[in-house]
Amino acid sequence: MKIFMIYGGKSAEHDISILSAHSIMTEIYYEYYEVIPVYITRDGKWVKGPRITRAEEVLSQEDLRLGFDEEGVQSGKGTPFELSELQEKDAIAFPVLHGPNGEDGTIQGLFEVLNVPYVGAGVLASACGMDKSVSKILFQNEGLPQVPYKKVLKNEWEVDSDTVLAACQEELAYPLFVKPANLGSSVGISKAENRDQLIEAIRMAFEYDRIIVIEQGVDAREIEVAVLGNEDIHTSVPGELVKQQGFYDYESKYLKNEVVLQIPAKLSDDIKTQLREYAARAFSAVQGSGLSRVDFFLTEDDEIYLNEINTFPGFTQFSMYPRLWESTGLAYGDLIEELIQLGLQRFRDTQNYDSKDREN
Ligand SMILES: Nc1ncnc2c1ncn2[C@@H]1O[C@H](COP(=O)(O)OP(=O)(O)O)[C@@H](O)[C@H]1O
Ligand SMILES: [Mg+2]
Repeated sequence: MKIFMIYGGKSAEHDISILSAHSIMTEIYYEYYEVIPVYITRDGKWVKGPRITRAEEVLSQEDLRLGFDEEGVQSGKGTPFELSELQEKDAIAFPVLHGPNGEDGTIQGLFEVLNVPYVGAGVLASACGMDKSVSKILFQNEGLPQVPYKKVLKNEWEVDSDTVLAACQEELAYPLFVKPANLGSSVGISKAENRDQLIEAIRMAFEYDRIIVIEQGVDAREIEVAVLGNEDIHTSVPGELVKQQGFYDYESKYLKNEVVLQIPAKLSDDIKTQLREYAARAFSAVQGSGLSRVDFFLTEDDEIYLNEINTFPGFTQFSMYPRLWESTGLAYGDLIEELIQLGLQRFRDTQNYDSKDREN
């Protein structure tokens, strides 16, 4: 079987995507597969690298850029990739992309239209998981605990910012976290301790999206649970992102390795069970399939709040998601294999529905 490993992409998480893809390509079971690396450059070009049939043939992290530099200038290696290649028989797409255009349902929609099996969440789960204003409504509907928040549209802010500010001050208590609805990796997110900072934070968030959410801040530990499965949902032991400083941006979190992962997290059995149950329900609430990492806040007096769901979490050997599975008893290579099988299984299921649709 052929695996199209798709990585890079236009989002801010381009670099972590390359690291994740490199790890995955190194650990795939080459007895069953050959891999075609497909790199999406920062400006959105799709380029194909040489076919890989053994782990030893995997390109270095730098070479996975296929000769493209930061500015998108090419010096060789990669050849143009035609989307129709995805439709080859016995092939599956493996999008290793984080953030907009990769984790938000858009590329998943492309695979659906091309009728290509793919790894990970479908269109709906990807889109709902990416959009904080939508996922919060689904979680609320499912009865999952979340911090108090307020959704604000750009238009409301522009027409009457005083009313927006008054409502925030009345309904929420400082510190507040202001977030664009549709971005990941802490881009456009800031913490506000007072009215002036709130105005600044709102302005900044609106530079990234026309919808933002303003959340009440909590002083809490950050605990994450891995979810795996389609209809049959499995959860991992919880892990903790141990903080060295107050607020984690993307750089400190992923690139500078300023976080320490405590796996499994030191928690009572009751809290562990509760977190795993919430994680499975959050996954169902967005109609997840394949995988997700569900992130929580846990306060000193054991209040749990669901923060967010990530339908394609960081996936290097050092990332939380695969390490949670390792600690739960599923090795990295087996995890990749399981994800491929889950993608194929979902594809077969949807093919059945498609043929019913034609019969009607
Ligand atoms: N309501 C909150 N209270 C306390 N800390 C928060 C809150 N919201 C976000 N944070 C901090 O900001 C980080 C990034 O926010 P998050 O919503 O997870 O965005 P992203 O989708 O970019 O990961 C969190 O991991 C946490 O450290
Ligand atoms: Mg997060």
